[in-house]
Amino acid sequence: MGVAGDIWSEWLLNQRFAHLSETERADTLRALRFFRDTTLEHADIHPGQTLIDLGAGTGLLAHRAAELVGPQGRVIAIDVSQKSLRELDHRDSPAPLLRVAADARAVPVDASSADRVVMRSVLIYIEAVEQVLRECARVLRPGGRVAICEPLNARRYNTVSLENASPELRAALQGMQASKQAAASPMARMAPDYLTSCATAAGFDVIHSVVIDDVEQLADADAVERYVCRVSAPGRPTIAQQYEQALGSTAWGELYQRWLEHARQQPFEWRTPMLYLAAVARR
Ligand SMILES: C[S@@+](CC[C@H](N)C(=O)[O-])C[C@H]1O[C@@H](n2cnc3c(N)ncnc32)[C@H](O)[C@@H]1O
Repeated sequence: MGVAGDIWSEWLLNQRFAHLSETERADTLRALRFFRDTTLEHADIHPGQTLIDLGAGTGLLAHRAAELVGPQGRVIAIDVSQKSLRELDHRDSPAPLLRVAADARAVPVDASSADRVVMRSVLIYIEAVEQVLRECARVLRPGGRVAICEPLNARRYNTVSLENASPELRAALQGMQASKQAAASPMARMAPDYLTSCATAAGFDVIHSVVIDDVEQLADADAVERYVCRVSAPGRPTIAQQYEQALGSTAWGELYQRWLEHARQQPFEWRTPMLYLAAVARR
């Protein structure tokens, strides 16, 4: 089935790993495994269950979930990006693995037919968060569980000091942070309370909501130069372009020099709070 807006596959397969050194790539893969394992732990998966990976992409969660549900279970990987699903290798899967090109707002799965729904980094890209969660509640059997992992990108921060920064840079950064948090986007809205209230309204009882920081280290000035060339999602400007747009070129120039200077002395960290939420469909 063809689905419009297939912008994700190139980013998932290539772009997100561009501008990474070998070490950074290994660190990224390690972080992805941590997000996967923590989400699936919160899903409390048992052999024989039917599990839906919603917004499955190339199958980060689906592949591991297939091992957990085993040959008596079943995994349904759903995504709008048909090209990403094509990369999701289903041939040697330990459990039957179905790939379905569809929108998370209208899941083509019967009501009360799944035991688990898992999602990682999907809701921040969809306006209709509550509608997607209502779909999750509909397809789950009563007592079934949804486990979600979403990055709180609007709360990302780094550990570079702003001591002696110009008042212009401080003001520009404050303005950038305020407009990030005020933006009318699902990414800006995503927060523990927000997701809990959407899940509750959609028919779930939330049993677990925790935030664990993902820590990414930029080891030296070369790492900073590579970092600002990255594209964090399909169709987005590079990190450097985003900062320049938000801060203006003078303030961005000052900030970038601070990052480089800091990294020449010692590594610095970017911290992204990651929200993990598990909820049970009401009986
Ligand atoms: C950041 S990727 C995450 C992919 C995968 N969950 C993972 O952990 O690697 C976001 C995914 O959400 C999918 N997506 C975005 N909007 C969607 C929608 N409305 N319905 C279904 N999938 C959607 C994209 O196609 C993409 O594969």
